[in-house]
Amino acid sequence: MAEKDILIVDDDRQVREVLHQIFLSVGYNCLLANDGREGVEVFKTGRPPLIVTDLKMPGMSGIELLQSVRRIDGDVAVIVLTGAADVKTAIDSLKLGAYDFIMKPVNVDELLIAAERAVERRQLLIERREYQELLERRVVDATRDLAEAYQRLQDTYRSTLEALGSALDTRDVGTEAHSRRVHGYALAIAHEHSVPASELTDLGHGVLLHDIGKIGIPDGILLKPGPLTPEEWKIMRRHPEIGKALIEKIPFLRGAVPIVWAHHEKWDGSGYPRGLKGEEIPLGARIFMVVDAFDAMTFDRPYSKAKPFDVAKAEIRRCAGAHFDPSVVESFFRVPNALLEEIRRKSVEP
Ligand SMILES: [Fe+2]
Repeated sequence: MAEKDILIVDDDRQVREVLHQIFLSVGYNCLLANDGREGVEVFKTGRPPLIVTDLKMPGMSGIELLQSVRRIDGDVAVIVLTGAADVKTAIDSLKLGAYDFIMKPVNVDELLIAAERAVERRQLLIERREYQELLERRVVDATRDLAEAYQRLQDTYRSTLEALGSALDTRDVGTEAHSRRVHGYALAIAHEHSVPASELTDLGHGVLLHDIGKIGIPDGILLKPGPLTPEEWKIMRRHPEIGKALIEKIPFLRGAVPIVWAHHEKWDGSGYPRGLKGEEIPLGARIFMVVDAFDAMTFDRPYSKAKPFDVAKAEIRRCAGAHFDPSVVESFFRVPNALLEEIRRKSVEP
């Protein structure tokens, strides 16, 4: 399809021939048809970008031709020729997608300018649409790339945190997979406690990293086999503050700070480091207190043999209102034993 192709449709042979000569003289390749029906047929095979058509023709009118060719190719530029009596139809043709109309008798310059403009406008519309499509494709691609990158980043975060959690467990002798278990138990309670889904990530991070501050505790104290002296306890009890200082500088872990900082606070205010009481203690830390105690009792440690779930649960019930938030304890009791068992079993799988 050469851009200089034009289809001329007019039932008046003389007019058709004049138009033909006009367009020939300025370099158009002309296709000719003597009514609407023939015009559509010629259009189908030649696919010219531009059509000049009379409006009033026997058989298929210019308006019907306009509608037919636009159904075949929405980009085709159609200029209609009209007598003074038919201006209203010509204006209607614009609403149906004609580019322009020219009054008869035809002024040659006016016709050629209209044809030139129609071809240019058609080209512009096509380019604009292609550009739009290109942009849309790029947005789709970029959105997909971003989603993939975000997912990779999330995976990296998660595995980094898990590795860090395991590293902490390994250093703190005898608490193998402790972080992984308390993480599982805590999320199970959070579910029963109707903690909003939007808070679960921070809760998970806080629980996984609760003891990260132990990095700052000397091995001589952290790994000491016997009981700690009061002076050593004072140092050991600094680990929530050290943990807070470590992670509050990391933007994606900032939400875990309240849990790390408060994970040794007790409901009755007897905990440390700040001696917070009741609901002053962040909910995540109150949940952590329960699961940490439960895990300490139900998993073998060098200095204590694992207790059965029922014994551990009774002990936790006994301490509700003292160490533990009673409503969190209630939620904990709603977690089925089978789920607790499964979390414990999975925590030691490779
Ligand atoms: Fe701790």
